Amino acid sequence: MLANSVIETVGNTPMVKLNRIGSHTKANIYAKLEYMNPGGSVKDRVAFQIVEDAEREGLLRPGGTIVEATSGNTGMGLALAAALRGYKCVFVMPDKMSEEKIKALRAFGARVVVTPTNVEPDDPRSYYCVSKRIADETPGAFYANQYHNQSNPKAHYRTTGPEIWRQLDGKVDAFVSAAGTGGTISGVGKYLKEQRNDIHVVAADPIGSVYYDYFNTGRMPPAYSYTVEGFGEDFLPTTMHFDVVDEVVRVTDAECFEYARRLVREEGIYTGGSSGGAVAACVKLAERLDREVNIVTIMCDSASRYLSKVFDDEWMRQNGFLRDDPMEGTVADLLSVRDPSKLQTATPDDSVRSVIEKLKQFGISQLPVLVDGRVHGIINERDLLDHLIRSGDALMPIRDLVETRFAIVELRNKVSLLSQFFAQDLTVLVMDGGRIIEIVTKIDFIAYVSSTSARAQKRR
Ligand SMILES: Cc1ncc(COP(=O)(O)O)c(C=O)c1O
Repeated sequence: MLANSVIETVGNTPMVKLNRIGSHTKANIYAKLEYMNPGGSVKDRVAFQIVEDAEREGLLRPGGTIVEATSGNTGMGLALAAALRGYKCVFVMPDKMSEEKIKALRAFGARVVVTPTNVEPDDPRSYYCVSKRIADETPGAFYANQYHNQSNPKAHYRTTGPEIWRQLDGKVDAFVSAAGTGGTISGVGKYLKEQRNDIHVVAADPIGSVYYDYFNTGRMPPAYSYTVEGFGEDFLPTTMHFDVVDEVVRVTDAECFEYARRLVREEGIYTGGSSGGAVAACVKLAERLDREVNIVTIMCDSASRYLSKVFDDEWMRQNGFLRDDPMEGTVADLLSVRDPSKLQTATPDDSVRSVIEKLKQFGISQLPVLVDGRVHGIINERDLLDHLIRSGDALMPIRDLVETRFAIVELRNKVSLLSQFFAQDLTVLVMDGGRIIEIVTKIDFIAYVSSTSARAQKRR
């Protein structure tokens, strides 16, 4: 694509089928990569529509200032549009937002005012009130007002909806979107329902936001704070058109973050927590429908804005979203914390005495017994002792004393598998590349679990 201006690169984003996430269901989940817009989010579409409409209506004039209460993404879009058309920008955002988002806005030359998160929307310190005051006090200011500006859903009705319909040749059964201002779900939902009224439109809503309760009861519940950024609200924006919404699915902070991390690591989709929430809702829907359907969702913005949060293990741990579960480690992890040793082996023809010598020399209590390089069984000190007490014959080959009950694990297996084998009193051998490379003992297992738990406790 050769563009004459960055404006032409907004929209027409790719749609990608998820291959791993949701593969246990019968649904196809398609993700529209809105983070590939030039400002890095779904909001570029909205910002350009808002500026275009404001210019046409005479609300924004040359030299004017765009003011907005934004959690960042609309700001990026507006800052882009402002840079291209020569406007100034002031953005007001709550203090729970990522440093990355604030810095990105400043990079465009915008002024950013940070306000406290935990105040009521009608408190004069809230970001809604502060942004409104700045708009009132600045000459030539235009308050973009994405929560009540109908250019917001219009952008999605005009562009995102038709793109989805075209990309899937009309084969859309459900549309799922994280709902913040509601612009995306309202615009796309309206367009899709006009094409086929039975398309199921689902809003993903973080627990703590008001949408779920309001949608299901018609009453406003108290809102409480949550950690995931960019979606859910504590009031009802007029850009949220519930008439095109069929269902609201609740998602937890933990689900949003878990799915965001999985999207990056398993699908290569470099996106943030609200997209994680949308995909979590897609999976819940797919599990419930239990039939082959095409579900489309929106990857709202880029993981780059959350590198010091969702994608930072320390931040995740400090906020209780990442547990140090030793059972989640692999056999390779267990071996990596153990003192390295060279595997000692025996053959069935070795004498009882020579095996005892070897056990003594290396301070070990059992050996794998190999025949032509393949495991035949295990010889252990307990059976040797029983034999000596019974017959006293130290020169006899160990052949008849070999224990043939044992278990084999691979380096990539979870440590939790070991506990099952140890519970059955099996000796565990580690195989790699078709060769036995190690024996894992109960004491190795105990040492690994206790050191992992101790490390986790120290960090807390
Ligand atoms: C990261 C992120 N996700 C989701 C949304 C929600 O989109 P909408 O406002 O269209 O409902 C936003 C909106 O600001 C956002 O910034």
